[in-house]
Amino acid sequence: HPHDTFSQHLLAWFEQAGRKNLAWQQNPTAYRVWVSEIMLQQTQVTTVIPYYERFMQRFPTIHDLANAPLDEVLHHWTGLGYYARARHLHKTAQTLCEHYQGEFPNTLEAMQALSGIGRSTAGAILALSQGQRQTILDGNVKRVLCRYHAIPNPPTDSQTIAQLWQLAEQHTPNIQVANYTQAIMDLGATVCTRTKPACQTCPVQADCLAYQQGNPTAYPVRKPS
Ligand code: ADE
Repeated sequence: HPHDTFSQHLLAWFEQAGRKNLAWQQNPTAYRVWVSEIMLQQTQVTTVIPYYERFMQRFPTIHDLANAPLDEVLHHWTGLGYYARARHLHKTAQTLCEHYQGEFPNTLEAMQALSGIGRSTAGAILALSQGQRQTILDGNVKRVLCRYHAIPNPPTDSQTIAQLWQLAEQHTPNIQVANYTQAIMDLGATVCTRTKPACQTCPVQADCLAYQQGNPTAYPVRKPS
């Protein structure tokens, strides 16, 4: 049982309401989770699904991806946008096949050194594919934490970002890390949305400071212009 109430409530909510049948959650190898996380970086789940299916059919292993011509990888990305993501995928697949026998590293540092993988994506891949206790902090998670803790500063300040990483780390449970990681991303994407948060269905409403203040969309606060 995790001690933190935030993660307790989130895990209970995930059991009951979370998405558990997405393609990349079945057989969640590092390769499959990596491809899904890169696609999901700037694109919603419902849009990603058919792209993911086609991509995995054509490039079922990291070796298939590394050996394919870049043109064909880009072709499978047509319509998803942000094509740098596809170039990074191809490049990283080649790096891993040439120097690491096609195996993903299992440390945060080595993962982050790969093209197109930042700190949060590295944490997500390790948590979702191996259950490693790693912390994530993407845009959705930042919004959730800014509201829950009523953070008074813009989440673009470097000090505030450091504070958010620390809070994210404190909330990360020692058990069920993969479920927790998926749950906090799902909460941000489906409940604690930017303009119309569904506080009535939120599992952490009771302890959310922004909710208690009566104006959840006041957070994250915007940088004064
Ligand atoms: N955004 C980034 N990663 C995600 C995931 N695994 N599920 C839902 N939304 C996401």
